[in-house]
Amino acid sequence: MIAIGCDHAGVEMKKAVISALSEKGFEFKDMGTDGQPCDYPVIAKAVCEEVTSGKCEKGILICGTGIGMSITANKIKGIRASLCSDSFSAKYTRLHNDANVMCMGARVIGNGLASELAEIFLTTGFEGGRHQRRIDLITEIENSN
Ligand code: RB5
Repeated sequence: MIAIGCDHAGVEMKKAVISALSEKGFEFKDMGTDGQPCDYPVIAKAVCEEVTSGKCEKGILICGTGIGMSITANKIKGIRASLCSDSFSAKYTRLHNDANVMCMGARVIGNGLASELAEIFLTTGFEGGRHQRRIDLITEIENSN
């Protein structure tokens, strides 16, 4: 199960991503908004809590730029969120950063690219090895704050 959420700027992109990836067998838990203007930190928190609790394996967050969502998500313990607008980043943030949340900007990229990036993010595994040590260092910093 994939948690997904957006603010008012990302509603159409969220619908497009859900529709494109549902056809490929992915299941989504939609944490809002369904169109009402809202504050993106509220949605980011809801999606990230689905991930940190283990209810959902990963999260996708969409706002106008993707920036507000990524800033918020990265404040939450256990979340490694990446703002992506290209396929290389979507792939490598899984391979090297073991990112568990991807953020996108609905005013930055198109719905087709967003769906493609989401698929790359959801189907690429973590490489482990030397990258695990770096993840552990991130966690160490997180735990010391
Ligand atoms: C909402 O207008 C906009 O500020 C929001 O979607 C996002 O871009 C914030 O980072």
